Parts: sequence; structure tokens; C-alpha cells
Amino acid sequence: MNGSGIRLDGKIAVITGIGGGIGRSAALGFAAAGAAVVGCDINAAAAEETVLLAKEAGFSIQAMTGVDLGDPDQAADWIDEAAGVHGGIDILYNNASTQRFGPISELSVADWDFTMRNELDLVFYTTRAAWPHLVARGGGAVLNVGSIAALRGVEFTPQNAHGTAKGGVISLSLNLAVEGGPHGIRVNVISPGLIETDNTRQFIADPSDDTRAMLGRIPLQRHGQPSDIVDAAVFLCSDHATWITGANLVIDGGGSILG
Ligand SMILES: NC(=O)c1ccc[n+]([C@@H]2O[C@H](COP(=O)([O-])OP(=O)(O)OC[C@H]3O[C@@H](n4cnc5c(N)ncnc54)[C@H](O)[C@@H]3O)[C@@H](O)[C@H]2O)c1
Repeated sequence: MNGSGIRLDGKIAVITGIGGGIGRSAALGFAAAGAAVVGCDINAAAAEETVLLAKEAGFSIQAMTGVDLGDPDQAADWIDEAAGVHGGIDILYNNASTQRFGPISELSVADWDFTMRNELDLVFYTTRAAWPHLVARGGGAVLNVGSIAALRGVEFTPQNAHGTAKGGVISLSLNLAVEGGPHGIRVNVISPGLIETDNTRQFIADPSDDTRAMLGRIPLQRHGQPSDIVDAAVFLCSDHATWITGANLVIDGGGSILG
């Protein structure tokens, strides 16, 4: 949810992966901030649950379910459909991703390709399709999601393909920030540290020394919650951030600043 108090009234926000841990929180948080939210997820049941939770909270959000954003045609069709719901796009929040982890000796070419498709390619597909809609509105905000795994080695599980794909997302964002400037399109990245979701609870609970050491050295002394990301996302997509583009905001309790 959005605890920042910052408003997004009048803005149309298109958010990918709203069935997931952070994406659900983002859909609810952006709606609570006053944005008209249109979301999608390949996981139909999870996306529908988010729509229901929004309804229970008094917000109406739209979702297209079963969309595979790793398919360029499905991604483009969804963006056009999403733009049609409220008559445009002001914010594209590329939250969705999925990946395969494994040491390089065990990671197959299929695992590598799967990770690139579902972490990097899909960001290109949706952003390329949304670009003319953003230009038509006279500008807008694209928010992409990197990771601390793109900025340094990660000690608690091998993240070779994931880190590479997220590094690509950051580089793509920097270049699109330059392309977007003359159109009033801002492109920023949030790079989270370990955030508690259904998928990461196993890592957080992992009693191994590497995981304990990683969590134990976070200066702010806790792992992250989805709201830590969503509050910053609302700000970066709001009119309070109109001179911020090309930023990669690391949100990790300070864990990655230590040598
Ligand atoms: N949770 C963390 O600790 C953490 C850390 C760093 C970065 N991130 C990033 O934050 C974002 C959200 O993470 P999360 O933990 O909420 O993940 P999550 O797995 O809970 O949610 C991701 C959602 O995206 C959807 N999705 C995946 N591939 C898709 C596709 N091809 N088409 C349509 N939908 C698709 C999934 O179905 C899922 O609902 C991701 O980009 C992730 O890489 C998360």
C-alpha cells in the first residue's frame, strides 16, 4: 500500500505482474494514491485476487489475466488494450518478472533464455508498445525494476542469469531516459534488496550462515517489505519527481553499501 501520502490523482497507471508480492502491493498502493490502475499477470487467479482485494479496500482496478509478457505480440496487444481502458497511459510500471537460479555449471541454456525472456525482454516489449501512448500524452513515467544482484555479487544463492538480466534492465532504462527526455518521458529504476513475499520467505527463513550473515549486516537491521518499494515507486511516478530520470534507486536497508 502507499504510505507516502503522495497523490497520483488523474494518472493512468499500467502495472505488470499485479498477482505477485510487490505487484499486488503496487496495484493497491497506486489505486489508493488516486491512480486509475490497469494491471496484468500471467497468473490469472493471482491477478483476480488482487482485483478482489482492491474492491474490498474500496478501489476499482482493471486486470487482464493470462497475459504472457514474454511474448512480444501478447505484450503489445495488452498495452494497447490497457491504454484503451481509460484513454491513455501516464505511468508504466514494469514490475513483472520471473527467473531461474542455479550455479553456472548447472544452469542450462534453456534456463538462461527463460530468465532473459521473462526479466529483460518483457520490459523491452511493454515499453516499446507503451512509448507512443506516452508520447501522445505529452510524457509520463516508466518505472523499471532492477535488483541489487545487478550491482554486485550476491552471496546467498547463485544469481548469474538474474543479475545479468536485471543489469540489462538498468542499462535499457538509462538509454531510454535519454531518448525519453525530449518527449517528457522519465524512466527510472528501483533496485530492491531482499523483500518479503511468498517467494522469498524461504530465503529469509534459511538458517544457513551465508543468509544469516547477509541479513545480519543490513545497516537498517531488517529485510524489506513490499511497502518499502511501493512508497518509493509512487514518488518516482508522481509530479514530485518531475526532474528525476535515469535514476537507479537502491532500496535495501543499506545492505549493498558495505564493502
Ligand atoms: N522480492 C524480492 O526480494 C525482490 C528483490 C529484487 C528484485 N525484485 C523484483 O521485484 C519485482 C517483483 O518481485 P516479486 O518478489 O513481487 O515477484 P513475484 O514472483 O511475487 O511476482 C512477479 C509476478 O510477475 C508475474 N509474471 C512473471 N512473468 C510474467 C510474464 N512473462 N507475463 C506476465 N506476468 C508475469 C508472475 O506471475 C508474478 O505474479 C520483480 O521484477 C523482481 O525481480 C524482487
